[in-house]
Amino acid sequence: MWMNDPNGMVYYEGEYHLFYQYYPDSTVWGPMHWGHAVSTDMVHWKHLPIALYPDSLGMIFSGSAVVDSYNTSGLGLNNNAPLVAIFTHHNDAAAKAGKDDYQYQSLAFSNDHGRTWTKYKHNPVLPNTHHFKDFRDPKVSWDPTHHRWMMALAANDHAEFWISKDLKSWRHLSDFGHEWGGHGGVWECPDFFPITLEGSTDTLWVLIQNINPGGPNGGSATQYFIGTFDGTDFTLDPKFSKEVLNGNGVWLDYGRDNYAGVTWSGIPDTDGRHLFLGWMSNWDYGQQVPTTPWRSAMTIPRTLTLRNTAAGLRLCSWPAKELSSLHGRQYGLQHVRISTPTDLNARMHCDKAIMDLDLQLDLGDKPAGNFSIILSNAKGERYVISFDRTLNTFSFDRSHSGNTGFSSQFCATPTRAPRISKGNEMHLRMIMDVASCEFFAEDGETVVTEIYFPSTPFTSIQIVPESGDLLLNSVTAFELNATKQQ
Ligand code: FRU
Repeated sequence: MWMNDPNGMVYYEGEYHLFYQYYPDSTVWGPMHWGHAVSTDMVHWKHLPIALYPDSLGMIFSGSAVVDSYNTSGLGLNNNAPLVAIFTHHNDAAAKAGKDDYQYQSLAFSNDHGRTWTKYKHNPVLPNTHHFKDFRDPKVSWDPTHHRWMMALAANDHAEFWISKDLKSWRHLSDFGHEWGGHGGVWECPDFFPITLEGSTDTLWVLIQNINPGGPNGGSATQYFIGTFDGTDFTLDPKFSKEVLNGNGVWLDYGRDNYAGVTWSGIPDTDGRHLFLGWMSNWDYGQQVPTTPWRSAMTIPRTLTLRNTAAGLRLCSWPAKELSSLHGRQYGLQHVRISTPTDLNARMHCDKAIMDLDLQLDLGDKPAGNFSIILSNAKGERYVISFDRTLNTFSFDRSHSGNTGFSSQFCATPTRAPRISKGNEMHLRMIMDVASCEFFAEDGETVVTEIYFPSTPFTSIQIVPESGDLLLNSVTAFELNATKQQ
């Protein structure tokens, strides 16, 4: 049935938990529950019963979950570590009655590895005393430096930081963002965490801030900010993009279909990754996509890294290594020069386009280097990815990808995404499923996630050089096996 945001992503004793905004009675949005799934690798998932149901305080909107290792909340049984979920209660009746304090933050806890949940009896723990119409999506993490909990919260047009010693009583710390970044819509689903700059020992802070609408290609999208945190205030780093000063966002993903994503909490230090996934849809048309009896999926899990790029500090995404557990037959090509449209599948003797494809290209000297990658089926339905060397920009066109008529928003304009590096060598990775392509350029500096609905799956991947020869230095492809429900 209906699913939107990932919620309560927490790793605990060998299991990744993924809760999600869920309406079990319909394929459109309705009274929100927290659905629940667990996995040992973020790839193969087992569905569990609904974790949280709406109650007299409201629907269960988005939020996070933590392992309360020191039992600061006192909600652990026999002083063991409970799992604590921190979520927004949305009181629809109050909203409809014209009130403006109908969203507030509440707790639920579990002492059995997330199998059953109890709502805290003194909910809400953070009432909406400032009467913000949008006051939601708490992302809580443990701050080991100050020995306290930190909450990032979306409040209308900015993020708020709150602190607590016990998850139950919260104090306002600071605000960020009225004046920075994209403001074409409401700020929703923040995430706030420290991250080490690749190749150094410097630690900076990332604020992920989802926004709807106002994305770079329309509708919902995920922007972020890089800065420092002094224990009270988050301040932008001067090496981060100047774009955010002019009311523009810097985007984690330029595609139309990656929203409300945040990172997992509780990842052991010995692993240390920042693991992310998002809702693979867009509020522009998410409730109309032609699937039944379910609506929507999550992106693949991704590892986030902070890199100093030609455009300044950037948060890069790369498929989590666990995805290789789906790898089937391997295909490859080396050092192939192409000057005319080339069917990769024919060259590799492979009849599927559901694969994990890694392409190392040499574009040649300018003005050469324009090309397209066309995923298609025998009916001529296609998803077209093009690269414009002069603009150093990718574009993505799904206007002939099959069923597109369910919403005029679905392919109103082609998606555009900048390439950051300017060199002749280009590295692309594409994870293609029946109804989605997750595209990563230059080790994840540019990411584009999009969905499509061909009447039969795409079976061909064609590379079309459009200005001079293209050198395929290496092509590595793995068929992707289906994940059976566990
Ligand atoms: C984001 C969002 C959240 C909210 C939830 C409701 O997609 O609007 O801000 O908590 O979805 O389902």
